[in-house]
Amino acid sequence: MSERLTGKVALITGAARGQGRSHALRLAREGADIIAVDLCENIEVNEYPLANPEDLAETARLVKDLGRRVVTRQADVRERGALIEAVDTAVAELGGLDIVVANAGICPLGANVPPRAFVDAVSVDLVGVINTVDAAFAHLRAGAAIVATGSVAGLLPGGADNPQNGPGGAGYGHAKRGVARFVHDLALQLAPHSIRVNAVHPTNVNTGMLQSAPMYRIFRPDLENPTREDAEPAFPAMNPMPVGYVEPSDISDAVAFLVSDEARYVTGLQLKVDAGALLAATTSGAPG
Ligand SMILES: NC(=O)c1ccc[n+]([C@@H]2O[C@H](COP(=O)([O-])OP(=O)(O)OC[C@H]3O[C@@H](n4cnc5c(N)ncnc54)[C@H](O)[C@@H]3O)[C@@H](O)[C@H]2O)c1
Repeated sequence: MSERLTGKVALITGAARGQGRSHALRLAREGADIIAVDLCENIEVNEYPLANPEDLAETARLVKDLGRRVVTRQADVRERGALIEAVDTAVAELGGLDIVVANAGICPLGANVPPRAFVDAVSVDLVGVINTVDAAFAHLRAGAAIVATGSVAGLLPGGADNPQNGPGGAGYGHAKRGVARFVHDLALQLAPHSIRVNAVHPTNVNTGMLQSAPMYRIFRPDLENPTREDAEPAFPAMNPMPVGYVEPSDISDAVAFLVSDEARYVTGLQLKVDAGALLAATTSGAPG
């Protein structure tokens, strides 16, 4: 693999597992040193478990095995002050910051979750992205690149909200629409400073967020306690391409391109990695 990112430092949130870990390893393989941030605790309204400190340590071990430097921070993207401190001290250790991947997220789906799940989803999935950019801001120079993780849920015409998803699902959709808008508007403001801002919008990705009890219930509403085996045949329904989900590495490929110099004039892009999911939604008049 070419080392397109040699000498660069990348900040990645939600880096303990899933897509965040995959991005950390991909960017490290391309030559970048890594600041890996994760909450490493559960959030009450979010039924499935989030990452733990061992997951974050494992990401760090894997980055080091690739011969790159890594600094980890247990921090909550909802807490702007703590995040700024975490990023400042990590940047001081690694000597700069060139790349920001605002990826941390929760998806507290379910008709029976409490209404505050709306606010919690927005706090992590939208405010967390803004906080991450804020924490990075003082360190970014011309040539820097920001990528925020949205979702097909943020681009569905008419929104992704339906009663089955509950308030947390509505908050998730609201947040991801906000991410798309934030990226568009911030890209315009930062373009004169040669700092690029792009979004990736995945369809289902094979991570702990997808492989979870609340998600299985969304895909198999006909069953009371669906398992992974029950949900697997239902996952492909939203993707015109014949797959139920993409792998984290498929999203990392998009992120690696967006932060590389090969994308040096690409900014404000809403890059769908969705196996055609949004094509189907726009042709059929959009679910939800
Ligand atoms: N998995 C999917 O199907 C899918 C689809 C579209 C978009 N996404 C988005 O992709 C991103 C990555 O999710 P994933 O699929 O890797 O799921 P994941 O649950 O495996 O990873 C999310 C990570 O974010 C961390 N995190 C959660 N809240 C945090 C907080 N407040 N502060 C810091 N870290 C926090 C978790 O501990 C976890 O390590 C999310 O933004 C998600 O919304 C996922």
